Amino acid sequence: MRSEPFLEKEPLTFNEAHSAGIRIWHWTFFIVITGSLLTVLMASTTLRTGNNTAMVQQQLREKAVSVTTDQASAVAHEFNDKIWDLHKIAGYVLSALVLIRILLEIAQPGEEKLGRKIRRALGFQPATPEDNKDRRHYLGVKLGYLVFYVLILLMALTGLGLAFEDVPVLKTFHQPIKSTHAFLQYLIYGYIVLHLGGVFLADMRRHKGLVSGMIHGQKRV
Ligand code: HEM
Ligand code: HEM
Repeated sequence: MRSEPFLEKEPLTFNEAHSAGIRIWHWTFFIVITGSLLTVLMASTTLRTGNNTAMVQQQLREKAVSVTTDQASAVAHEFNDKIWDLHKIAGYVLSALVLIRILLEIAQPGEEKLGRKIRRALGFQPATPEDNKDRRHYLGVKLGYLVFYVLILLMALTGLGLAFEDVPVLKTFHQPIKSTHAFLQYLIYGYIVLHLGGVFLADMRRHKGLVSGMIHGQKRV
């Protein structure tokens, strides 16, 4: 027996309930990813080895000790390593959060599942050009979440690949794993800029209360 195609008539709306699980996940993830991005920023600027080598030499010179650039660079590098260690710790937490998000998708009530929202939007039959525009917007946003989840999963996998570089097979692929991890960061930054811009604009214009909805979880009246 052939099943009927899934045709959705209920209008698509961003005025949706958000479970406690997804809200706690979202804001915890926001804090941890911000911390992780700060470690990258610090490691690439203030605590960059090359930016501190001359300072180490200068400080020691003032204490009447003379060291070579190589020796000073080794000291500066230690501080850089420390910040990457913090990045690694934040990375383990992020990786655990990615796993939790997958488990949440399985455990959430049907109507809150991202997969179901996407399928619903794909099956929606717009009656007017306005409905069609809303459908495209809704689908774009929800597919954007899916793309982000794939990106962050790849980030976690490549990050773990770097963190466990002593495992022989990971050592073999160290360079491609590192380049992939370094490249994906730009897609993550791009997504965050789009997401923040999107939710701020939406909340100011047609979807007032969208952000507080992600805090209290209820549908807006
Ligand atoms: C938003 C997510 C993340 C961003 C933007 C990010 C960014 C970066 C960048 C730019 C580097 C330097 C790569 C290079 O040397 O060229 C790096 C290194 C690294 N990342 Fe991430 N990362 C993220 C998530 C993770 C996760 C989830 C882990 C998992 C443990 C992780 C673990 C590592 C490790 C171990 C290194 C090598 C650090 C070292 O050189 O000692 N990262 N990351
Ligand atoms: C910068 C790090 C952030 C990341 C990576 C991020 C990521 C996400 C993701 C993946 C979702 C989809 C959740 C789901 O599966 O349903 C989401 C939803 C949402 N986020 Fe963020 N978020 C961030 C920051 C923020 C901030 C700072 C705000 C508020 C100012 C915000 C407001 C929202 C809102 C309102 C939704 C729900 C929108 C909807 O109903 O479709 N996010 N975010």
